Amino acid sequence: MAAIVRYNDLGLVNTKEMFEKAMAGRYAVPAYNFNNMEQLQAILVGCVQSGSPVILQVSGSARKYIHPVFLVHMAKGGVEMVRDMGSSIPVALHLDHGDTFELAKSCIDMGFSSVMLDGSHHPKEENMRLTRQVVEYAHPRDVTVEGELGVLAGIEDKVASEVSHYTRPEEVEDFVAKTGVDSLAISIGTSHGAYKFKLKPGESVPPLRFDILEEIERRLPGFPIVLHGASSVMPKYVEEINRFGGSMEDAAGIPEEQLRRAARSAVCKINIDSDGRLAMTATIRKIFAQKPSEFDPRKYLGPARDELIEMIRYKNEHVLGSAGKA
Ligand code: G3H
Ligand code: 13P
Ligand code: ZN
Repeated sequence: MAAIVRYNDLGLVNTKEMFEKAMAGRYAVPAYNFNNMEQLQAILVGCVQSGSPVILQVSGSARKYIHPVFLVHMAKGGVEMVRDMGSSIPVALHLDHGDTFELAKSCIDMGFSSVMLDGSHHPKEENMRLTRQVVEYAHPRDVTVEGELGVLAGIEDKVASEVSHYTRPEEVEDFVAKTGVDSLAISIGTSHGAYKFKLKPGESVPPLRFDILEEIERRLPGFPIVLHGASSVMPKYVEEINRFGGSMEDAAGIPEEQLRRAARSAVCKINIDSDGRLAMTATIRKIFAQKPSEFDPRKYLGPARDELIEMIRYKNEHVLGSAGKA
């Protein structure tokens, strides 16, 4: 078993102050997922360049892909790179969609500053029990915890759901009071992945359920809300992927205007994974198509990293409102 590492020793912070500032300033902190070095570098450089706080997000399967021990060193190296660039932006390392107490505990013991226990697929009582158990381990170690009520359609790490169940506002006060979570992920019409809506010809994307969000805000004044499945599935990347040999015909995401509206509300954390994947894939496909003899990974992963930096700067500045807030 690996040595116990505290997140402060890695130069990380938990999400408490980030969310307090985001709530007061009416913006959302970006939570970008990563699985490899280029993604991690791009997220950090994009947030340094835009002066944004950042939550680095790792799913259980991404942690396994990287290796849990290696991940600790990546996070430490990432923060040191940020400081070497002369930046003091706050950086949190967060477990995305943790599904067991053991996984959350292991992450806390290995330097994560924040964890999610996603018990949304369990009956409510079991969700509350598991979430409470994680809070009891996390809080004495000053680690923040995100819970979830309601089910998003799409894939949440190992758990896939065909249909979404909106969060029931009448359940949120009890859940927050009994579990002690620091933030709550809710379901108001977003979903995971690049195929968020099955649209018939001529149909447009249905609006998010802001009425549910407003009722939750009324019941939990000042409490940080989290939006998962918040990629826009940026059309320019989908078009590029399709132009250069890919096939993502029905991909569709959340319109930016709706995310801007959410970011101005009690939504303090917006999760983005798919858009980052699309940005890199589009760039790599284009290079492979235009330079078929290229075989140096730096020549396609480097430009993919550059494109991801641009995407992150754009999101922070024009969608989440977090640019300049670090
Ligand atoms: O919400 C799920 C995230 O996009 C992570 O996905 O399990 O494929 O790493 P993953
Ligand atoms: P997207 O698939 O919309 O990027 O959602 C990511 C997410 O919610 C990670 O937890
Ligand atoms: Zn998610």
